[in-house]
Amino acid sequence: MEKMSVRDVDLKGKRVLMRADFNCPLDEKTGEVADDKRIRAALDTIRYILDNGGKLILMSHLGRPKGKRDPKYSLKPVAKRLGELLNKPVKMMDDTIGPEVEEAVKQMREGDVILLENTRFHSGETKNDPEFAKELAKLGDIHVNDAFGTAHRAHASNVGVANYLPSVAGFLMEKEIRYLSKVVSNPTHPYVVILGGVKVSDKIGVIKNLMKKADTILIGGAMMFTFLKALGKAVGDSLVEEDKLDLARSIIDEANEKKVELVLPIDCVIAQEMKQKAERKTVDIEEGIPMGWKGFDIGPKTVELFKEKLQNAKTIVWNGPMGVFEIKAFSDGTRAIAETLAQSDAMTVIGGGDSAAAVERFGLADKMSHVSTGGGASLEFLEGKELPGIASIKDKEG
Ligand code: 3PG
Repeated sequence: MEKMSVRDVDLKGKRVLMRADFNCPLDEKTGEVADDKRIRAALDTIRYILDNGGKLILMSHLGRPKGKRDPKYSLKPVAKRLGELLNKPVKMMDDTIGPEVEEAVKQMREGDVILLENTRFHSGETKNDPEFAKELAKLGDIHVNDAFGTAHRAHASNVGVANYLPSVAGFLMEKEIRYLSKVVSNPTHPYVVILGGVKVSDKIGVIKNLMKKADTILIGGAMMFTFLKALGKAVGDSLVEEDKLDLARSIIDEANEKKVELVLPIDCVIAQEMKQKAERKTVDIEEGIPMGWKGFDIGPKTVELFKEKLQNAKTIVWNGPMGVFEIKAFSDGTRAIAETLAQSDAMTVIGGGDSAAAVERFGLADKMSHVSTGGGASLEFLEGKELPGIASIKDKEG
């Protein structure tokens, strides 16, 4: 079902209560925003509202302050950075709700911007308390939900408010839904899914759901060792989820039944310690990993194999790095996959979290069709779950 968009409503002179996900990392020393990606991702919607005569009241959470005011989690640094990006003043409020906030909203003119203090300073936020949602709703005439990163949470500022105000999607929310729905429901074939990361248990929902549509699934990251051990390979001291060996076997069987090609690495980079300076070797999986050694990246033969599998793809989704990309010595596999996707003509969708961080680190994010801004949210979307923060947005009529 298509969702109502900020484009579908009249904003002129309206108090527009917009939920963004400004949950950005802060620099421990300076307290400033260390990565403004999520702020930049909301700029299109923000500018559109301002250009169309809205009075913009922004809200977000930051961190997990557990329902209490904690200066460490103040949104002040976000107000500063947003002001710089917009090149106009952003008025930072001391609280999220209450008389002072209401008075400030009353004084607003078209084109003004206010940022409310962290919604999670109130326990009503994560409890989705109707009273807190009503207090927030009082501040606006319309609710714009652009917080895709929070869409897997049913909280007051994204979901509860929608009971009292019409809730429409912002441009980021629309873009996330468009790309992620495409890879979940309606991919153009050949469709290749690349999965990595540490644990099979974290990705089981995604594997099962995407297997319904994928032609090929490539497995990398530490989770490959659980699959390889399940197939009887010697994985040395690599990380294995011993209690997930049966699960891995059942996934391999299910892929065979469904005629989905499940491709596991044929070589990997090993070391005795997860350190840049540790001695490294590349071994073939058939040969086996000796005891005392652990796998930390896919090897060059696997990279070539994966490249070949990606060659004719029309749709590619990638979730989870191929190795410990944060350490240069173990980053080659992840980098090679990122570069292959950057050069591909396929629609390339990068699930949020670590794989998004990897393409950012390699400077390739803008070469992808879409890099999700949601970690948990994109994972749950790829698992096929209905996200409360999307369900609460009004459906388009007709
Ligand atoms: C995220 O960063 O994934 C979102 O902002 C949600 O944050 P949370 O996991 O603290 O709810």
